[in-house]
Amino acid sequence: MDGTDGPHLDSAEALDRSLSAAQARSDQIEQQLATDPSNFRMLTGDRPTGRLHLGHYLGTLVNRVRLQDLGLETMVLVADYQVITDRDETGRLADVVLELLTDYLAVGIDPARSTIFAHSAVPALNQLMLPFLSLVTDAELRRNPTVKAEFEASGGRPMSGLLLTYPVHQAADILFCKANLVPVGKDQLPHLEMSRVIARRFNERYGGGRQVFGAPEALLSPVVNLLGTDGVHKMSKSKHNTIDLAMTEDETARALKRAVTDSDRNITYDPQDRPAVANLLSMAALCSGADPRDLAAQIGDGGGGALKALVTEAVNERLRPVRARRAELAADPGYLLGVLREGNAKANEIADATLSEVREAMEMVY
Ligand code: TRP
Repeated sequence: MDGTDGPHLDSAEALDRSLSAAQARSDQIEQQLATDPSNFRMLTGDRPTGRLHLGHYLGTLVNRVRLQDLGLETMVLVADYQVITDRDETGRLADVVLELLTDYLAVGIDPARSTIFAHSAVPALNQLMLPFLSLVTDAELRRNPTVKAEFEASGGRPMSGLLLTYPVHQAADILFCKANLVPVGKDQLPHLEMSRVIARRFNERYGGGRQVFGAPEALLSPVVNLLGTDGVHKMSKSKHNTIDLAMTEDETARALKRAVTDSDRNITYDPQDRPAVANLLSMAALCSGADPRDLAAQIGDGGGGALKALVTEAVNERLRPVRARRAELAADPGYLLGVLREGNAKANEIADATLSEVREAMEMVY
């Protein structure tokens, strides 16, 4: 293997090409989903690193729930081993995982229809990492642009073996359950490409003509460019600019009161020249379904105060049912843990069956 058939997404041009191909393919898949969702098993997941916020909600969670509700078989991964790719400590992981479960169920992920499970609870998933590592080269791993970006953002921390190889682990996440559909943002496309390459090479090298793994496809999530309350950075815990699902209405009002606007009292929707104001208008628009220009016209000369009041109302109204459900769930951690244990058990069954197939293909049955 010389790695020449592997993912080459290291130039901006190659990324652009793969992005437009993925978008075209995603559009086709959406059409198939609308008519016959039964051909798909989808896998999605998050690193449990903190509370989910409005950016997650509008950017991925709403879409995930939509797909689940279309009737796709749905696997939701709590990617706990991925937490230690770019940090030295897991933090209070058990608490964070419970919060994540609370957020998941509150937004409408339904344990009756979706299997929610954690990496660390599924040994056979993790064992797939071994044969999979034999199928990729050092050079392929080193040119993964998402790994490079995470490495650069990790503040001088040396590249760990796990950071370098986690896209292979992510292939195991996807292939252990033979998911064929993975809703992702564009930063995850290199990982999807790696999973496809691994599936293909496994079949060629160890499958003896057998199609043990199919090639999973990316479903690009609708792009939602929501900035945080600072009006500069993407909404993110590390920037302290989030509106969390777990906030109360008062906390939301306070966070938005601190939001950045500008000194022009006349509110207009102008993403180019007034990004902070435009972002707040977008936030309200995304929450209420209104057009941001109409909202701007409605506020007129009301200034930043009126803008923030309008945004607060739109956000709180949108999140009210989620938060009510969240409060009920948070009061019953026993139930939440039960959901996770049941999901783990189901994932283990699936993973054991796949690992058996893999061992058979590799003549490792003794
Ligand atoms: N890497 C993803 C993220 O940071 C999380 C993740 C882990 C994932 N395993 C996955 C996403 C498998 C899709 C499929 O958000």
